[in-house]
Amino acid sequence: MAKSTLTVTDNRTGRTYEIPITDGTVRAMDFRQIKVSDDDFGLMVYDPAFTNTASCRSAITYIDGDRGILEYRGYPIEELAERSTFLETAYLLIYGELPTRAQLREWEHNITFHTYVHENIKKFMEGFQYDAHPMGMLVGTVGALSTFYPDAKKVDDPESREKQTWRLIAKMPTIAAFAYRHSRGLPYVYPDNDLSYTGNFLSMLWKMAEPKYKPHPVLERAVDILFILHADHEQNCSTNAMRSVGSSRVDPFSATAAAAAALYGPLHGGANEAVLRMLTEIGDKKRVPEFVKRVKAGEGRLMGFGHRVYKNYDPRAKIIKRTADEVFEVTGRNPLLDIALELERIALQDEYFIERKLYPNVDFYSGIIYQAMGFPVEMFPVLFAIPRTAGWLAQWREMIEDPEQKIARPRQVYIGPQRRSFVPIEKRNARRRKVA
Ligand code: CMC
Repeated sequence: MAKSTLTVTDNRTGRTYEIPITDGTVRAMDFRQIKVSDDDFGLMVYDPAFTNTASCRSAITYIDGDRGILEYRGYPIEELAERSTFLETAYLLIYGELPTRAQLREWEHNITFHTYVHENIKKFMEGFQYDAHPMGMLVGTVGALSTFYPDAKKVDDPESREKQTWRLIAKMPTIAAFAYRHSRGLPYVYPDNDLSYTGNFLSMLWKMAEPKYKPHPVLERAVDILFILHADHEQNCSTNAMRSVGSSRVDPFSATAAAAAALYGPLHGGANEAVLRMLTEIGDKKRVPEFVKRVKAGEGRLMGFGHRVYKNYDPRAKIIKRTADEVFEVTGRNPLLDIALELERIALQDEYFIERKLYPNVDFYSGIIYQAMGFPVEMFPVLFAIPRTAGWLAQWREMIEDPEQKIARPRQVYIGPQRRSFVPIEKRNARRRKVA
C-alpha cells in the first residue's frame, strides 16, 4: 500500500527527509528539521495571506468550493435555510448538534434573558457623533462591553464561556439597533422579549409610536434566513481575527470587537454595498452589455461575482435569490433586481466568466433585499456581524478547547538592513526611509 508520506530532498545538502501526510496536510513544523548546518534555524514555509495554510482542525463548517457545497456541522445550508431558525442554527454551530425541543427552549430563554444592555452602554453610545458609522459604533461598543463583564476574563472557565456566549449573541442585535437609531436621531427602543430573535431586532429598529411592534412574518423570516446564511463560513478574515486575537486569552468581547473590525473592511463585509453602487451606476438593463464589456477589458470588476473558495455558484446566493422574490412581494420590487438578473444572465453565458469560474456570490443579491427592506447601506456590515457572532463564538470556543492551539504568532522572512551602527543625528543624510 502507498505510504502517506512526502519524501523531500534538500538539494543544498543532498539529505532526504520523510514527512507524514495527515488529512491531505503536512505539518509546517516538520520542515524545521531541514537545515544546512546545526546553527541553521531550519526551513520555514512562506504563505502570505494564508492562501494554502490550515491554521486549525475544525469540526464546524465544511465548504467544497468546486462543488458549491456549504455545510454547518454536516447539515447542508439549503436544509437549514429551509427548516431551521437562526437561533437553532446558532445552537448547532456552538454545540455541534441540533437541539431537542427542551434544549432549544432553554437556549432561547437564555438568549432572550440577556438582550438588555446596561444603561451606561446606552449612554456610551449617545457619545458618538450624530453621523457616526453604525459599524464603527458596533465595533467600539462591543469592545466596551468587556468592561461591564470582568468575569469574561475567565476564558478557561467553561461556565464563564457559556455566559459570555449568551450575552454576545443576545446583545449584538440590541447594539446594532441602537447604532441605527442613533444614526437616524431616533430614540432607542428596548428589547421586546415576547418576540423572536429576528422579530425583536426588527422591533428595535423600526418601532415608532405603536405600543407593540408586530413584525411582518415574511420579512421576519427573510432576515432569519439571511442570518442563517451568514452565521459561519470557516476561516475567513474576521473568524481568523477572532481566533488569533482570542488566542492571547483576551476576553471574548474584546476578541469579538477585533473580528467585527475585520468584517468592517470593504473586501469582507462591505462587498454587498459595492454591488448596490455598481447596479445604481449601471442604472438601466440596456446598459448591462456595455458594462460587462468594460469589466472584460479590465476596467473594474463585476462586484458580487467570484469567490476565493467557491468556483461554482455560491449556494447561499441561490437561497437569497429565492428569498428576494418573497421579500419583494411585501416591499415592492427593487428596480435594481432587473439589472442584477440581466447581469447574471449575460455573465453566466460569457466565455470570460465561464473560463474563470466566476459565479454570483452571497453578496450579489443580499444588498438588494436589505435595501428593499429599508436598510441604509451603512447597516449592511452590521447585519452581517449579528449572525456571524454565533460563528465567531463557535470557532473561539473550539480554539480555546483545542490542546494543539497556542497564542497565534506567525514567523516572518526578514528582509531589512543587516546589523549596523547607530548614526549620530548630525551625520544623517536627508534621504527618507524607503517604505516598502
Ligand atoms: N469581475 C471580473 N473579473 C474577476 C472577478 C470579478 N468579480 N473576480 C475575479 N476576476 C478575474 C480576475 O481578474 C482574474 O482574471 P485573470 O486570471 O485574467 O487575471 C481571475 O478572475 C481570478 O481572480 P483572482 O483575483 O485571482 O481571484 P481571488 O480568488 O483572489 O478573488 C474575489 C476573489 C472575491 C476577491 C474576487 O472574485 C472579487 O474581487 N470579486 C468581486 C468582489 C466581491 O464580490 N467580493 C465578495 C466576496 S464574498 C463575501 C465574503 O465571503 O466575505
